[in-house]
Amino acid sequence: MNEQGSVLEQAAQQLEQGRLVAFPTETVYGLGADAENPQAVAAIYAAKGRPSNHPVIVHLAPEADLSHWVQDVPAAAQQLIDAFWPGPLTLILKRAAHIPDAVSGGQDTIGVRCPSHPVAQALLRQFKGGQGGVAAPSANKFGHVSPTTAQHVRNEFPEECASGMIASVLDGGQSDVGIESTIVDMSRLETHGPVLLRPGHISAQDIQAVLGQAPQAADQKAPRASGTLESHYAPATPVVILQSELLPSLLEQLSLMHKKVTLISAQTKVLADYSCLVGVKNLGIDPVAYAHDIYASLRELDQLNSRVILIEALPKTAAWQGVNDRLNRAAFDSQGFLQGLLGT
Ligand code: TXA
Ligand code: MG
Repeated sequence: MNEQGSVLEQAAQQLEQGRLVAFPTETVYGLGADAENPQAVAAIYAAKGRPSNHPVIVHLAPEADLSHWVQDVPAAAQQLIDAFWPGPLTLILKRAAHIPDAVSGGQDTIGVRCPSHPVAQALLRQFKGGQGGVAAPSANKFGHVSPTTAQHVRNEFPEECASGMIASVLDGGQSDVGIESTIVDMSRLETHGPVLLRPGHISAQDIQAVLGQAPQAADQKAPRASGTLESHYAPATPVVILQSELLPSLLEQLSLMHKKVTLISAQTKVLADYSCLVGVKNLGIDPVAYAHDIYASLRELDQLNSRVILIEALPKTAAWQGVNDRLNRAAFDSQGFLQGLLGT
């Protein structure tokens, strides 16, 4: 067996023993545990500092038997599976009666997803002979930015990795998509139709193209999703979103005031040498490329001890919905921060 094979085999055994394994997916890295072992699932909540009534997504190998996990697969859900699995789409379905409460935070539904990342698939195929489910939230502390590299995971959980609470961190390079999976609730079709709980790389239009029906926006009765809390995906440094036309005068003012700030720009290339800027990332105006790099950029700029991370506002078109959703949550409640910084 080659080296990679034995690392995977060991990680699968660790999962079978009830231990935690972080692994790459095409969206972000996950912190995994055996979904049918409530103690193992509880260890994820403990490591993340996450409230235990928040459900986690169960990851399945392409060959896994979905009927083990859910009561039934409605025809519309099967259409989405055929179109987008393996890939960055999570479906909320009615949970099979024998599946432990722990994975669904006590709700009667379950989130399931079949990732396309080859390392994730190899791990899922090895674990319990390919018929197990790996419960995995994003591998970050509750409310933080999701990790898109193995190093992000190690930075996020240094003690848990050193103590062996996290038994392995599998390295599969930088996640392709860069933001978390699209989540569609298909558990209340008769009353609500398909409901988009979290936008992502697979857009509302993509779903409409398959179902012939646009998914509804999430309502109050929608199942709880922690990524739908207003403040989420946030670095420690305050994040402020700013319209492009306001950037030059603000940067000039901040420079005169000797404030240290960082910037994530999109269409604007900052050419002037503003002394306030201690870090700049230009992510361009392609939403797919932007999503790929946004979390790594937020983490990098968060290390620079600036007063604020400024983000150039993005187009409001459908292609940007997933990115805008994450950035609006990262910036939640910090709009007044800029006034404070400027003393106005
Ligand atoms: O891309 C992703 O989805 C990543 C990778 C690791 O797969 N996972 C991820 O997990 O983002 P997490 O736990 O950070 O976010 C999953 C979201 C949470 O907001 C959770 O509340 C929601 O999915 N969720 C999971 N099961 C659910 C259920 N039964 N009903 C409603 N929401 C559910
Ligand atoms: Mg998360």
